[in-house]
Amino acid sequence: MSQSGVGQHVLLTGANGFVASHILSILIERGYTVTATVRSEAKAKDIIRTHPSWENAVKFVIVADFTSDGPFDDIFRNSGKPFDYVIHTASPLKFQVSDIQKEMIEPAEMGTTQILKAAQHFGGPSLKRFVLLGSAVSVLNSFEDISREGKPYTEKDWNPVTAEQAIARNDTVLGYNVSKTRAEAAAWDFMKKAKPTFDLTVINPDIITGPMIHPIHGPKSINETNHFAIASFIDGTHTQIEGVTFPFYHFVDVRDVARSHVDALKNPAATNHRVLLISGLISPQLVVNIIRENFPSLKDRVPEGNPGQALPSGVCPTGWDTRISQEILANGSHDGKWEYIDLKRSIVDAVNSILSTGILH
Ligand SMILES: NC(=O)c1ccc[n+]([C@@H]2O[C@H](COP(=O)([O-])OP(=O)(O)OC[C@H]3O[C@@H](n4cnc5c(N)ncnc54)[C@H](OP(=O)(O)O)[C@@H]3O)[C@@H](O)[C@H]2O)c1
Repeated sequence: MSQSGVGQHVLLTGANGFVASHILSILIERGYTVTATVRSEAKAKDIIRTHPSWENAVKFVIVADFTSDGPFDDIFRNSGKPFDYVIHTASPLKFQVSDIQKEMIEPAEMGTTQILKAAQHFGGPSLKRFVLLGSAVSVLNSFEDISREGKPYTEKDWNPVTAEQAIARNDTVLGYNVSKTRAEAAAWDFMKKAKPTFDLTVINPDIITGPMIHPIHGPKSINETNHFAIASFIDGTHTQIEGVTFPFYHFVDVRDVARSHVDALKNPAATNHRVLLISGLISPQLVVNIIRENFPSLKDRVPEGNPGQALPSGVCPTGWDTRISQEILANGSHDGKWEYIDLKRSIVDAVNSILSTGILH
């Protein structure tokens, strides 16, 4: 399939994010014309300071608040050349919040429904596809019995978690799961009821790790998942592996996530599909094994754990049946194949990117 984006206009939301920075990089590389949203002028400037060569390749527009009235309408009205595609990535992904409903669920859901409405009303006939960055957390069951492996998840599964459960337990990981599940469900519901002329593809990745190319200003700029899955074993957060658990035990590299989004724009096989993105297993022990083997200078500060025991005691995560998604991904790639970056490369490249910024002393 042709990968060229020359002459095609894409609207990308949340361009300063961990994943969106990689998407933006590929869009520019493939020649797309890009309009990108960020929450402030300062964040747009930050992106260009980090990637000076992108200066004339992307136009920034500001969307500060998804819960305001029609925040995307003017972007579609004033797009100049109409958009051919939308990639919506912006959504809250920080677990340190005090109000799950207001800081997680509402912005995720309203961001998605408001941009879909704007796309339908003002997008015009050139708009062919809306690609939503969803999550595996809207597929898996937050309450699965982690002590025994269940039936593998497929594209047909939906997380039964509710806002009431997340709020009653004041559990922000559950709150995040609700935010992604409700946002994705709202997108499919919109497609069914509003019947817009464009179609929808949702990409559902599990934990995303890998190198960071977004603007970095200190340890807090490390994105949430690279922090809990990798940096927290280097920065002293965890001094031992025993007792450390992850909320989920499968991962995918950020470069595969970005590639899947850009490939999905023109892939006929992706029409109105969910696409599961799962590379393989990840666990605290697997991560520290890779860091200790590949970064001798970090060995003293990274706990050893029990190198032969991949998963925490009592953890048998349910797997994924990704055959349908794999076919869609292969169909969209330049050579008809889809191969994932493995855990070792993802962790090594992530650690190198963390070290190169000099933010962990
Ligand atoms: N990382 C993962 O493991 C993972 C896995 C599956 C799915 N995802 C999804 O991937 C997307 C990007 O995640 P990421 O890891 O790249 O996280 P990230 O670096 O935190 O990026 C999130 C982006 O969303 C924007 N955003 C957050 N809350 C917002 C709000 N209330 N209003 C407007 N914009 C808001 C952020 O803007 P500011 O920087 O200005 O706050 C940022 O641009 C999210 O939809 C996430 O759910 C991530």
